Amino acid sequence: MSQPEYLIAGNWKMNGLGADADALAKGVAAGASSAPAVTELLVCPPYLHIDRVSAALAGSGAQVGGQDCHNEISGAFTGDVSAEMLADMGCSYVIVGHSERRDGHREGDPAIWAKASAALRAGLKPIICVGETEQERLAGKAEETVARQVRACTPDGVDGSKIALAYEPVWAIGSGRTPTRDEIAAVHKAMRDALEDMLGADAGGGIRLLYGGSVKPSNAKEIMTLDNVNGALIGGASLKAEDFLGIAATCA
Ligand code: PGA
Repeated sequence: MSQPEYLIAGNWKMNGLGADADALAKGVAAGASSAPAVTELLVCPPYLHIDRVSAALAGSGAQVGGQDCHNEISGAFTGDVSAEMLADMGCSYVIVGHSERRDGHREGDPAIWAKASAALRAGLKPIICVGETEQERLAGKAEETVARQVRACTPDGVDGSKIALAYEPVWAIGSGRTPTRDEIAAVHKAMRDALEDMLGADAGGGIRLLYGGSVKPSNAKEIMTLDNVNGALIGGASLKAEDFLGIAATCA
């Protein structure tokens, strides 16, 4: 597989007007050529900014992705966007199953599996998000919960060239709190084991596993150097080009 070892993905969520998106994308584009060769850079802006972000990133090597997609190709689904529409806009990836979608839009594992499958149908690479709540962690069920989500949300027959997964503990998102290194390593190992069991050692072993939840330049290196951590999904810190690129720089 000839893809970079680390996928560094920015999830801009519902932030920024057009001019902000332009400025942020231009900042990412300007620094992208100095990012380590082991990194692949991706930004996921709000749908409405995808076109302008795609234009601002053209030629920089950084890619653009969606934050969610519907599982159908088209139809009477008010407010939704299909994976095919994202691909048509120049996206190469789409995030599915983010906890803000699971929670705020009542998306369960079967819906997320269907969205991931739709992304593959459209030629997009889904980044499937999984993660335990604080209650599940306190009950000692983090690995079990995440492994169950991995099995339920990952389509059959995929490998590392087609998908990535992101471990995002719900309680670590936007909170400034992160799990310990041992806790992250244990969950990523459980994800790897589940994928290898489902897909075989080669396919399951080659899928990049991102960590997300309060990643910033100051804590990225200690997380990116863990076994089975192959990138980051970054919310707040991706809204500053310098911080986003600073996180990528820690992968060198
Ligand atoms: P955060 O968000 O980096 O702001 O914690 C991560 C995410 O929700 O993907």
